[in-house]
Amino acid sequence: MNIMTLETVSLDENENALLILDQTKLPNTVNILHLKDIRGIWNAIKTLQVRGAPAIGIAAAFGLYLAALQSRANDYPSFMAGLKDARDFLNSARPTAVNLSWALNRVYRVAETHRDKSINEITELLRLEALAIKAEDTETCRRIGEYGLTLIHDGDGILTHCNAGQLATSKYGTALAPIHLGREKGMNFHVYCDETRPLLQGARLSAFELIADGVDTTLICDNMSSQVMKEGRVSAVFVGCDRLAANGDACNKIGTSGLAVMAKYYGVPFYVFCPASTIDMTIHTGAEIVIEQRSPDEITEMWYSKRMAPDGVKVYNPAFDVTDNSLITGIVTEYGIARPPFVESLKEIFTTKESANTPNP
Ligand code: MRU
Repeated sequence: MNIMTLETVSLDENENALLILDQTKLPNTVNILHLKDIRGIWNAIKTLQVRGAPAIGIAAAFGLYLAALQSRANDYPSFMAGLKDARDFLNSARPTAVNLSWALNRVYRVAETHRDKSINEITELLRLEALAIKAEDTETCRRIGEYGLTLIHDGDGILTHCNAGQLATSKYGTALAPIHLGREKGMNFHVYCDETRPLLQGARLSAFELIADGVDTTLICDNMSSQVMKEGRVSAVFVGCDRLAANGDACNKIGTSGLAVMAKYYGVPFYVFCPASTIDMTIHTGAEIVIEQRSPDEITEMWYSKRMAPDGVKVYNPAFDVTDNSLITGIVTEYGIARPPFVESLKEIFTTKESANTPNP
């Protein structure tokens, strides 16, 4: 079975269940989870069975629809009270990726703006909105990939971190979209995936999906990136993003900012890929972003047959870091590539977005 043909997240409308390709089991086991209640969906997001900013947004949007479907409320105020609780609960699963709250609020707003309709009619509109979020994500990633392809040439070496690929979105990915689209066009790149300690999204997920797509892929440990760049093997670094501040500071998987520092030193272009839904214009700088802290055992025990650190050692496990905008060559979105100074170029991206979304009179 080719992983590229499987859906990361989908809705089974016969079963009324959210289907998730369990990413904690990859690459050794391909298992699809069938989740019907929001506790299970919250848990899947928290434990990274579904992960990657766009994918968790889509999963949560379907989760909120399923919560509405299961509602026993028979009047609008109690329906909305239950929906708000479900939205806030799902949103509490992980703090950093803005796509989670963005998708939940988008679905919730549909219910707010249709108070004149019956609960059944509103629930149907929530289903359509969640499906639209997923369909738009595929189109968005494709457009991000097209812009990304303008930055590289056939045969280039690309270094990527974590997994900002198909497994993190509904299709194509963000940072890996140019690679997958390039494959569709018969192009070939050499991709270096770093392992991405501690949860190994690079080794387990990016390497897996790239090989499945026939990409020439080399796995390196996180501490080998400097040497690989120094040897001139890398034409560009492509990474994803979980939340981008209005000034272009980019929050992504822990280790991203270190790569950006190295890329600057070696003169390698460093590109951040994200849909406009990952840009949080309400925060001015990356200092305002809440960084998720995760369990110490991800560092001391996970992946080892027995604990490999002494009892009593302190462990610090931030899941994300913030790359300073001064280290970023460009931010690739579905509305174009923003270049420094980002305060201006990101505003332009939003102006383009708004005019694209405004219907002609
Ligand atoms: O903790 P994860 O695996 O959810 O972190 C994922 C990342 O950091 C990705 O780079 C980011 O979400 C972008 S995915 C298109």
